[in-house]
Amino acid sequence: MTTSPKIYVAGHRGMVGAAIVRHLLAQGHPASHIVTRTHAELDLTDQAAVRSFFATETLDQVYLAAAKVGGIHANNTYPADFIYQNLMIEANVIEAAFRSGVQKLLFLGSSCIYPKLAPQPMAEDALLTGPLEPTNEPYAVAKIAGIKLCESYNRQHGASHGLDYRSVMPTNLYGPGDNYHPENSHVIPALIRRFHEAKVNGAPKVMLWGTGTPRREFLYVDDMAAASVHVMNLPKAAYDAHTTPMQRHINVGCGEDITIAELARLVAQAVGYAGELVQDTTKPDGTPRKLMNSERLANLGWRAQTPLTTGLQLAYDDFLKTTA
Ligand SMILES: NC(=O)c1ccc[n+]([C@@H]2O[C@H](COP(=O)([O-])OP(=O)(O)OC[C@H]3O[C@@H](n4cnc5c(N)ncnc54)[C@H](OP(=O)(O)O)[C@@H]3O)[C@@H](O)[C@H]2O)c1
Repeated sequence: MTTSPKIYVAGHRGMVGAAIVRHLLAQGHPASHIVTRTHAELDLTDQAAVRSFFATETLDQVYLAAAKVGGIHANNTYPADFIYQNLMIEANVIEAAFRSGVQKLLFLGSSCIYPKLAPQPMAEDALLTGPLEPTNEPYAVAKIAGIKLCESYNRQHGASHGLDYRSVMPTNLYGPGDNYHPENSHVIPALIRRFHEAKVNGAPKVMLWGTGTPRREFLYVDDMAAASVHVMNLPKAAYDAHTTPMQRHINVGCGEDITIAELARLVAQAVGYAGELVQDTTKPDGTPRKLMNSERLANLGWRAQTPLTTGLQLAYDDFLKTTA
């Protein structure tokens, strides 16, 4: 008889962690074999608490989706918090997982690990080839450290302890559990809120920041969860064949980008806002294009499933539920 592995999802109340739990349950993984702790119950920056938790739980797998996450403003205002907390969370969880005999761990990074001027689409081998985007450099450095922690533990302890710690780098995510804060949110939840409010208030037009020409990639969060579980469960031989010991991370994107203006039009459609969308071209644009190269993951048998229009509709439904 095979028993289900006992899985710890760190950050289960966050957008991605919650989606991973949903996906595991939908796959039939017993709830009794999914371990979670809220931030209040277990502060992952607290080394002693993390060690004690791992020592008592006898875990088989860890999804490390807990992190201090925020937009440009938060990254600029609290750079020390972003680098310190993320380094501590990763170092504590990875070391405690190793000490307690956990052989399988998946670390979630971010596309901001790649250099500001990385060739597009950004492939895994662009890592550490140039300067990072200054606004989130401390956060990105911590995420790069997370990748290197996984690789280093594998290199030192892989053969002797059967460790196989992996990492995935998601593109921009959206969907249920997103943060819809008026000033503090990513582009999709921000647009959802603005168009919803414009619809409710009967506003004839909505001003949009910049020219609308920058291109970005978006992945529905439940696709990200499915990709995470897929990568965690890949046979080691397959994972090793598509990576190298010192470049063992895998990009997760949908493989397509879209202009911000076109995205705004699709969000307005999902929300049912029929007014005019006006670009405020006096406001600056960001990087012209940010797209991940997700061929490595495609070659390992996974592709995104949720079309953007479907995902946006589901995201708007979630917004309505969250703000009801
Ligand atoms: N969202 C995106 O577009 C995106 C894109 C690329 C990569 N990612 C990556 O995906 C991962 C998850 O992101 P997300 O969007 O799900 O973020 P999120 O919604 O902010 O969730 C992060 C979770 O981590 C928890 N956490 C933070 N610090 C903690 C600590 N010291 N101890 C215990 N728990 C702690 C948070 O709890 P509290 O809220 O209670 O602090 C929260 O539940 C992150 O590594 C992020 O870099 C996200």
